[in-house]
Amino acid sequence: MAQMTLAVVTRFGGPEVIEIQTRPVPTPGPGQVLVRMTSVGMNQAEVMARKGEYKLSSGEPPFVPGIEGGGVVEGVGTGVTSVQAGHRVILIPGAPRRDPKADGVRDYLGGTYRSHYLCDQAHVMAVPDGVPDDLIGALWLPYLTAWGCLVWKQRITKGMYVGIPGCSSSVGIAAAQVARDAGAIPIGLTTSPSKVEVITRELPGLFEQLVVTHHEGTMVPWHRTIKDVTAGHGMDVYFDPVAAGEYLSIEVRSLAQSGTIWVYGLLGKADVVDVQPLIRKYGSIRGWLLFEMVSAGPDVWKPACEAILDRVASGKFVMPVAGRFALKDAAKAQMEMEKAGHVGKFVIVG
Ligand SMILES: NC(=O)c1ccc[n+]([C@@H]2O[C@H](COP(=O)([O-])OP(=O)(O)OC[C@H]3O[C@@H](n4cnc5c(N)ncnc54)[C@H](OP(=O)(O)O)[C@@H]3O)[C@@H](O)[C@H]2O)c1
Repeated sequence: MAQMTLAVVTRFGGPEVIEIQTRPVPTPGPGQVLVRMTSVGMNQAEVMARKGEYKLSSGEPPFVPGIEGGGVVEGVGTGVTSVQAGHRVILIPGAPRRDPKADGVRDYLGGTYRSHYLCDQAHVMAVPDGVPDDLIGALWLPYLTAWGCLVWKQRITKGMYVGIPGCSSSVGIAAAQVARDAGAIPIGLTTSPSKVEVITRELPGLFEQLVVTHHEGTMVPWHRTIKDVTAGHGMDVYFDPVAAGEYLSIEVRSLAQSGTIWVYGLLGKADVVDVQPLIRKYGSIRGWLLFEMVSAGPDVWKPACEAILDRVASGKFVMPVAGRFALKDAAKAQMEMEKAGHVGKFVIVG
């Protein structure tokens, strides 16, 4: 019997808790699609899940991590009309988080770090020609996270300054491209002086300016730099995965009048934040989670997905692949990701 491969988190802990296991390849039932996964985008969310820091998403071990992916249809059950064997498909946003029992899928264990993925036909969408094979399953977390926040919620407009901390990450790069697409001005912030040259070389002209916030691991007072690079205006929008302590205090201080700081990650260490300047600036700090867009329904997320796929297919949105790994090397891939030396997206390819 043909076997599929899964990377299973057997208990919370370091990369060594990831075990490669095999199971029989499932047969698609009525209305189901079997996808051979050729591209699984890697995210910090899975590293956090492995450590036991994201139980809301992972639950208790054992589980298969991974919240996005795509590949080639290998088989379809009766009644499937939307796709057929050989089609390239992407799992719709949120699909890997759905209750497995709702799909009638047993032996599921959750996520997308697997060679084959069985799901309802409604949970895949076709991928247009032009989208690179290795990025099929690595688009939603970066691009939809950025698009949902900046376009859907914030409604960024031409000429706005958009500050992007962690600008070397896939979400940061996507945010800069989404901002450019809307006519806004992306200013990248990075903790890593060594990444400036790589970002400039791989993504020429994407960021209007790059601001280095740290020197030898210690934060420098970078609020004046923000004043300089925004011609004294301040930052209209921060799209921030750090959101803690002095870093957030500096964002507040360098915010433009009526500016907004969107917090979408918690990479920084929790500490006291001076929010006093928000009052006279009429500023705000808001939270953003992609799930808000997913739970708003297909009328909201589908047009955004289509716009993103169009732009990736046409080459307008380009995501550098920081590393490609085989599924059997999932533990090594997560170790590399934790080093935070990358620019772009890590992908598990099949
Ligand atoms: N809210 C949502 O819906 C949503 C969706 C997707 C991801 N996320 C969150 O977004 C964050 C980034 O995810 P990712 O997968 O894009 O990560 P990633 O590719 O691993 O990028 C993380 C980058 O952030 C910067 N960074 C890390 N720690 C920092 C710190 N303490 N202070 C300042 N900068 C720091 C570093 O970039 P530099 O070297 O350039 O500074 C690092 O390379 C995670 O917290 C994740 O959970 C949230």
